Amino acid sequence: MTQVAPALNRLLANYQVHYQKLRNYHWNVRGPMFFELHAKFEELYTGAALQVDELAERVLALGAKPLSTLQEQLDAASLAEDPGGPDAQTMIANTLADLGALTGEVRGVVKQAADAGDDGTVNLLDPIADEQEKTAWMLRAWIG
Ligand SMILES: [Fe+2]
Repeated sequence: MTQVAPALNRLLANYQVHYQKLRNYHWNVRGPMFFELHAKFEELYTGAALQVDELAERVLALGAKPLSTLQEQLDAASLAEDPGGPDAQTMIANTLADLGALTGEVRGVVKQAADAGDDGTVNLLDPIADEQEKTAWMLRAWIG
């Protein structure tokens, strides 16, 4: 089952970048939607922190070592940080793009885990992807 662990580690790295990006947006969002988006980004990064923890602990349960430093995680991540300080609309659009990429990656790892007979990973990841698709719909609705 450990062949799934490297894929989980890449996912962990991407969730860590996603988490920090959401914190960045939570801190730096500006404009008339500040209070709504400040709270929404907090809700989203709280969820992302949970995913990071679940993924790391699944890697450990599979007998492998989770990527545990920021450097290791940045090196393994395909999601990019956002140093630019974009406007609120762009923050939501970027979050939507990241969620789409993450959900695609999660679905891919689910297939890999299913092929490997790793039911625990399938059970962990399926609800994450489902929930993210719902969040993505709401963010698309917000954009209008
Ligand atoms: Fe805060």
